[in-house]
Amino acid sequence: MTGTPAVEVRSVRMVYGSGPSATFALDDVGLTVEPGRFVALIGPSGCGKSTLLRLVAGLEQPERGDIRVHGVTPAEACAAKLIGLVPQSPALLPWMSVLRNVTLPQKVNRRAAARRARIAGLTGRQPPAAGPDMRELLRRAGLGDVARKLPGQLSGGMRQRVAIVRAFGLRPDVLVMDEPFSALDEFTRESLQDQLLDLWEESETTVLFVTHSVTEAVRLADTVVVMASGPGRIVEGIEVDLPRPRRGQLLGERRFHAYEDLIRDRLRRAWHHDAA
Ligand SMILES: Nc1ncnc2c1ncn2[C@@H]1O[C@H](COP(=O)(O)OP(=O)(O)OP(=O)(O)O)[C@@H](O)[C@H]1O
Ligand SMILES: [Mg+2]
Repeated sequence: MTGTPAVEVRSVRMVYGSGPSATFALDDVGLTVEPGRFVALIGPSGCGKSTLLRLVAGLEQPERGDIRVHGVTPAEACAAKLIGLVPQSPALLPWMSVLRNVTLPQKVNRRAAARRARIAGLTGRQPPAAGPDMRELLRRAGLGDVARKLPGQLSGGMRQRVAIVRAFGLRPDVLVMDEPFSALDEFTRESLQDQLLDLWEESETTVLFVTHSVTEAVRLADTVVVMASGPGRIVEGIEVDLPRPRRGQLLGERRFHAYEDLIRDRLRRAWHHDAA
């Protein structure tokens, strides 16, 4: 333990455009995530959730403020494959089979091992052992039969699952997921939530997870971060003090619903504040 947070966002401002048409996607956003924590971000459409994830993943630069991933810049963390991103719309390589789409990053990742070791030296993080068996992960995600197909031959939800499996395969230190399960049916979603929790529990991965589902946030997260818009900002971080695994009877208990009610209340307030 180095005591360095897995993710540290300090006083971040992100503006799209300029002049009168400028959008303050985020303003004065601060967030500290300790290693191994599962953090869910929830908030109205347009409050900057995807923007915050893209900044952490090094895909955009903040106008102001500072972001560190295990003590290094997002660009360095990305180069060392410390970060795995599941974007809001999956980007698969259309000319490659499902199996190659999920195994290629693993191969690239192995080649990045040297860079990874260098950054690991900076961060004090150990590079992970070899990645998991992708065929097995595909099978567990219900994709065993389509491993040889091209992304264009799959449904939207299936493509989303391929992107999730691909990110799991990288065993990143920080897994950043943007509404990964929103396009899935209830049973597939629950199965993938369980797989994500298994991965998280066995690998000390830190997870930043955007969702619009209050129930999903309470089921998965240690901390639920509620955001509001105009400008995009963090309103509150709510610690979810419920035992794991959170399944079965617990989901119907009053203490589970109490967290759902609390988060809904905070979202409602954020929404009224925005609308006012
Ligand atoms: N590339 C861009 N160019 C200009 N404006 C952008 C861009 N990306 C996002 N925005 C604006 O920034 C704000 C935040 O967008 P963002 O996609 O982060 O929201 P979100 O919270 O992820 O919303 P949703 O829940 O709908 O996915 C919005 O007002 C959006 O219009
Ligand atoms: Mg979004």
